[in-house]
Amino acid sequence: MSIKTAILNGVATIEIARPEKKNAITGAMYTQLAEALVAATGDDAVRAILLTGQPGIFTSGNDIDDFVKRPASLEEAPSFAFMKALMGCDKPVIAAVTGAAIGIGTTMLFHCDFVYVSDEARLAMPFTSLGLVPEFASSVLVPRLMGNARAAEKLLLGDPFTGADAVECGLANAVLPASEVVKHARRIAERFNALPPGAVRETKKLMRRGQSTALLETIGVEGRLFGERLQSPEAKEAFSAFFEKRKPDFSRF
Ligand code: COA
Repeated sequence: MSIKTAILNGVATIEIARPEKKNAITGAMYTQLAEALVAATGDDAVRAILLTGQPGIFTSGNDIDDFVKRPASLEEAPSFAFMKALMGCDKPVIAAVTGAAIGIGTTMLFHCDFVYVSDEARLAMPFTSLGLVPEFASSVLVPRLMGNARAAEKLLLGDPFTGADAVECGLANAVLPASEVVKHARRIAERFNALPPGAVRETKKLMRRGQSTALLETIGVEGRLFGERLQSPEAKEAFSAFFEKRKPDFSRF
């Protein structure tokens, strides 16, 4: 079981738990994540959702072995079900970024309501260095949030950035010591037990009103390109290099 779920004191915790592979997310795990989000969204006992990883690692992103072995069309891809479930969740989602957050580990944060980051965490969207393109609407959300110049560092160069950078650009709420990040996120989540859930739900929907159709359209455009890029010689070189633990060589492209 690589996705653990638990409900305690009004908070549904969804925990990515595959530390031996740095919490890389497989297709089966995306399906479990989507199911857990849909279940928590529909459960009256749940006031807020806490999304977290393991000590030292939030997630290293999509499982690269899955990229190689199971490239799926966007609509069939289990990652798409996860994206739709997170975007469709009308309860507050609080992310506790316990460590490195790579690829979708960072892009999913744009769709959470609160983001707390460990002081040891690094975030990165290294899509181009994998021969890929951005996903989860990050191609529009990153420039919108931080402007084109800083977005170019993160999306074209794939430069990693800290929790403090994420706070500064408005992606995250706060940086906390590693030992505190989950506790703090849980305290924020539990505050929703004292608030009227209908007003919270309607407010979240208003805050995101008008965005979801455009974002889903962007996810569609990105997804079709992403699918093509997965088959590209550039991506094949990047994936081989990752598993052979060497630097990729893009000089022949
Ligand atoms: N997909 C598949 N396997 C992954 C993975 C991923 N995204 N990330 C890590 N792993 C595996 C490694 O292959 C390794 O497996 P092994 O023990 O069988 O060799 C194991 O997890 C440990 O990873 P390792 O790279 O040795 O750990 P590290 O502490 O040196 O580095 C990371 C951690 C997260 C920085 C590094 O693993 C990494 O860069 N991962 C890939 C991130 C990425 O590009 N994700 C895709 C984004 S679209």
